[in-house]
Amino acid sequence: MTPPEKMTPVVLSLKDEHTRLDREIAGWREWWAQLCEIGSPHFGEMGDRITQLRDHLSSHFHHEENEADLPLVRQLSKDKVYHVAELKDEHNQLMAELQNIIDRLQGQGPEYKYWGEAKQDLDTFLERLDHHEMAEEEILDELLQD
Ligand SMILES: [Fe+2]
Ligand SMILES: [Fe+2]
Repeated sequence: MTPPEKMTPVVLSLKDEHTRLDREIAGWREWWAQLCEIGSPHFGEMGDRITQLRDHLSSHFHHEENEADLPLVRQLSKDKVYHVAELKDEHNQLMAELQNIIDRLQGQGPEYKYWGEAKQDLDTFLERLDHHEMAEEEILDELLQD
């Protein structure tokens, strides 16, 4: 285990943002599951909640992108540096995907007819986001070593 004094504040703050995003997602997943049980879809409200998530995600992505040129990242092996660049490229795709879901929930695109349809799109998005963040966590953990 790396002693706390060796952990860099930047890496820790990014890890902290991951934890907070996870909590936020878990919170509205719970709210959503309750709504599904009752069987009453609230597309607009869901759209509003996800808009909040989008804003938090957007500032998190900007934070990561600003840190990607730090000497910190240059400590990584070459293949990992490429991986960081790939992950950075994924940000725009993830944001576009989420925006598309929000637009549809808020009736600004082809509207969802069924709750299950929206749920499926969101689950697919969350799976991709989870995959993305887990890959970043691995890199952050590597930066915390020695
Ligand atoms: Fe990211
Ligand atoms: Fe991240």
